[in-house]
Amino acid sequence: MNKLSVHPLTGSCGAEISGLDLANVSDAEFGIVHAALLDHGVIFIRDQDITLDQQVAFARRFGELEVHPIVDGMENAPEITKVWKPKGQSASFGTGWHSDNTFQEHPSMGSMLYGKTIPPFGGDTVFANQQVAYERLPDAMKEKLDGLFAIHSASEAYTVEGTKEKFDKKTAITYTWDESIMNEVRHPIVRTHPENGKKALFVNDMFTLRVDEMEPTESHELLQTLYQHCTKPEFCCRFRWTENAVALWDNRLVQHYAVDDYQDYERLMYRVTIEGDRPN
Ligand code: SIN
Repeated sequence: MNKLSVHPLTGSCGAEISGLDLANVSDAEFGIVHAALLDHGVIFIRDQDITLDQQVAFARRFGELEVHPIVDGMENAPEITKVWKPKGQSASFGTGWHSDNTFQEHPSMGSMLYGKTIPPFGGDTVFANQQVAYERLPDAMKEKLDGLFAIHSASEAYTVEGTKEKFDKKTAITYTWDESIMNEVRHPIVRTHPENGKKALFVNDMFTLRVDEMEPTESHELLQTLYQHCTKPEFCCRFRWTENAVALWDNRLVQHYAVDDYQDYERLMYRVTIEGDRPN
């Protein structure tokens, strides 16, 4: 195997790592991978012929894995979500800008997606670096956001049109109703990364309901302004999947969006998420 190397994809987000076998990662290699994740927000490793146990074992090196409170996991491995879209259906998982599970008190730290069946075109995943997005805000906006909190919940994302069939188990990805869907949690709009110390915007169109203690119109306008800013192409990278590629991202510093443009084709990925801490 060639020497491990890290190749940045854009000026703000994402890097491909080559020369790595995820079934056999030494501590030294893990150190490089971890540093690349903190530097680039999301890393991609192609051509990994690994088992799901090996996927789980690698992800566990970053922390404990979560069992999703709503999206059903696999029967014998509840921490793994089978992100499957059969041919002829629209994609319905992850289409919308979000950072994973911000409706939880402790949103997911990281997520790992392993691509097994890839459409001949389409089905890319787009990522946006929220630390770069924060840095590029005007100073006046940074001052305005200082000390502001937002309310996050699963209540809208998991009750929109189309979700009923998932709760009724009529779809490829299924949900189970959990009381926590209606919970609301409060997170700072700007969070500081516990490992690299940088500030990031931490609101997303999927799970953020409103700015806490702000009048509804002003809250709506502020969130829309932030959403438009934080997903600018300058902060993004777009990953073209290939069979056996892996993406691993840090939800504390990127948001992502699954592009729904491959109606006629199947796509199958396996996803695990890593427990996070309370944003500060
Ligand atoms: C997700 O939001 O985790 C899914 C991303 C994808 O399927 O590309």
